Amino acid sequence: MHDEYIKLHYDVLSGDYIRGGEASSSLKKALMQLGINNSVIRRACVGCYEAEMNIVIHSLGGEIEAVIYKDKIEITAKDRGPGIENINLAMQEGYSTASEEAREMGFGGGMGLPNMKRSSNNFYIESVLGEYTLIKMIINID
Ligand SMILES: Nc1ncnc2c1ncn2[C@@H]1O[C@H](COP(=O)(O)OP(=O)(O)O)[C@@H](O)[C@H]1O
Ligand SMILES: [Mg+2]
Repeated sequence: MHDEYIKLHYDVLSGDYIRGGEASSSLKKALMQLGINNSVIRRACVGCYEAEMNIVIHSLGGEIEAVIYKDKIEITAKDRGPGIENINLAMQEGYSTASEEAREMGFGGGMGLPNMKRSSNNFYIESVLGEYTLIKMIINID
């Protein structure tokens, strides 16, 4: 059942606001070519974009892997960096520690993590302070 899939991999650089967003646009392109329905594409891309920009804004760099199966999309975002001290707090709408630089570019609304959770059917976050943050999202294809 799950033996057919497409795997996409992207390196995401810290502070790279120019290329930040490329993982989610390539994912969007791949999903559109597969003829997947728009609401699934939108949810996958919102989740991917928010995870990607969090790596750009908050971490030292990382990677995004998206695996497209027949019945679901699995997005994994892993970075090296400061990690998240209080995940419950970070998950709250409007909570942000984004830098002044990031805010000047329109980031820092504190809606990224809540949106990732809302956009996915299954959301998992794990973080070790001073080491890494790992996010997994599953979006069902219906
Ligand atoms: N990959 C990450 N590494 C370190 N901290 C993170 C990461 N992702 C999120 N955070 C923390 O969680 C907070 C909330 O994230 P988010 O909801 O995406 O809002 P925003 O990115 O607008 O600050 C961030 O401000 C930051 O403190
Ligand atoms: Mg964010």
